[in-house]
Amino acid sequence: MGELILVLDFGGQYKELIARLVRGLSVYSEIRSGDISAQEVKRLAPIGIILTGGPNSVYEPNAPKCDPEIFALGIPILGICYGMQMMCHMLGGEVKCGERGEYGIVDAVMGKSVLFEPGNSAVLMSHTDCVYKLPDGFLCTATTAACPIAAYENASKGFFGVQFHPESAHSADGQQLLRNFLYKVCAARGEYKLDDYLETQIIAIGEKVGNKNILLALSGGVDSSVCAALLTKAVPGQLVCIFVDHGFMRQNEGDEIERAFSNQNLHLIRVNAKDRFLAKMEGVIDPEAKRKIIGEEFIRVFEDEAAKLGEVPFLAQGTIYPDVVESGGAHGATIKSHHNVGGLPDNLAFSEIIEPLAGLFKDEVRVIGKKLGLPDSLVNRQPFPGPGLAIRIMGEVTESKLSVLRISDAILREELDGMGLNQYFTVLTDTYSVGVKGDYRTYDPVVAIRAVITNDFMTCECAQIPYEVLLKVSSRITNEIPSVSRVVYDITSKPPATVEWE
Ligand code: XMP
Repeated sequence: MGELILVLDFGGQYKELIARLVRGLSVYSEIRSGDISAQEVKRLAPIGIILTGGPNSVYEPNAPKCDPEIFALGIPILGICYGMQMMCHMLGGEVKCGERGEYGIVDAVMGKSVLFEPGNSAVLMSHTDCVYKLPDGFLCTATTAACPIAAYENASKGFFGVQFHPESAHSADGQQLLRNFLYKVCAARGEYKLDDYLETQIIAIGEKVGNKNILLALSGGVDSSVCAALLTKAVPGQLVCIFVDHGFMRQNEGDEIERAFSNQNLHLIRVNAKDRFLAKMEGVIDPEAKRKIIGEEFIRVFEDEAAKLGEVPFLAQGTIYPDVVESGGAHGATIKSHHNVGGLPDNLAFSEIIEPLAGLFKDEVRVIGKKLGLPDSLVNRQPFPGPGLAIRIMGEVTESKLSVLRISDAILREELDGMGLNQYFTVLTDTYSVGVKGDYRTYDPVVAIRAVITNDFMTCECAQIPYEVLLKVSSRITNEIPSVSRVVYDITSKPPATVEWE
């Protein structure tokens, strides 16, 4: 097995960012739960461990802790924020509640360390507690005005801690710090290459599948499209792509997907299952219920199609690593059940599920897609959730609401295309408001605009769209769709909000 960095999760928001940065530095990383046993860590044999931040205080009764034996494995460890405090506490030091918290970009005075150069450096801080007394054998290596021990180390054991967030782009030398940890402390060789991942998958799929057929859920999104390209390469001629049109696609999207893939060298079946899905949505209001029901219905449709095709023992899915992590499948708390993971029922009629992208982050999937020769328009397509417009309609999903949402979404996309935003769409809220059209009072639903700028969709900022563009979108939506009373703009970041409303 190649070099591995384990990112142990203590509930921090940035675990995926850390893991992705490590991979960007050419070392393979995986996220595991903070309570992983030392024995399992030993089996995985990582070259280094990163302990993430988290919301707890180490003295809280249920504060998460790692297996103390991990400190005896002789593996270098970097603790970040809570991870730093926890390591200090578990090794005999003391942590205390800071007199005032420290939030935002602050100036740190860095001392001598293999991880950074001495001098001043801007770092992102976000903490209340801080390390107060170091365990024996540890040295303080950085300070800030509010945090006397902003970094520490026991270099001979390979233990390092930083109170700030090196994974944040706001920490000026953060990336270099991570690089130093990987290469100078963990002695990484930096062998992780996406080409290897691709080759390994192609060989593994070929061996596993033999001459049998695979069914793939093709949605036209980046993940399933790249998955289709990869599977076509691994087992040419054995891939049957089923595009389940659940009726929750955007304007004309179903036809576009069918057109895009009908020219390619694969067997594409389009299943028009709109009525089936709409019937399942009757009376369903809860977002998680919608996601689960749609996910499950998807599988049922596949089973029905598979039955028509004869024996198709393998089902492929375009699940990617963040889906697995966010669904709690790997090791985290469930934020949202992602369509392609959370909705998966236990009683599958397929003998095996193949998820060739399940170890990859989104940007890695795009790189693989390009390597496989997919066009830019497909590889850089803005994301669209598996449950589609159903989770952009608050409350019960009906055909008439879908039609309102589709038109408003098409208008928004017409006006915002080309502005360089990462994702933009409309949401049909379940809020009604009074308006006036002509001489009549109206009482109709409110449409919200969501438009975000993000690197990785794990965090995002609302896009700063010029007012004149927003005004035009609002005017077009309210004029072209008489049953919309007003248009509002969602200006919330993630966190605390998510990109989608449901
Ligand atoms: P959230 O709403 O979790 O969304 O901040 C982050 C990104 O993921 C997309 N998304 C999904 N993608 N299946 C998917 O394939 C899903 O169930 C799903 N839910 C959200 C969302 O559009 C955004 O790009």
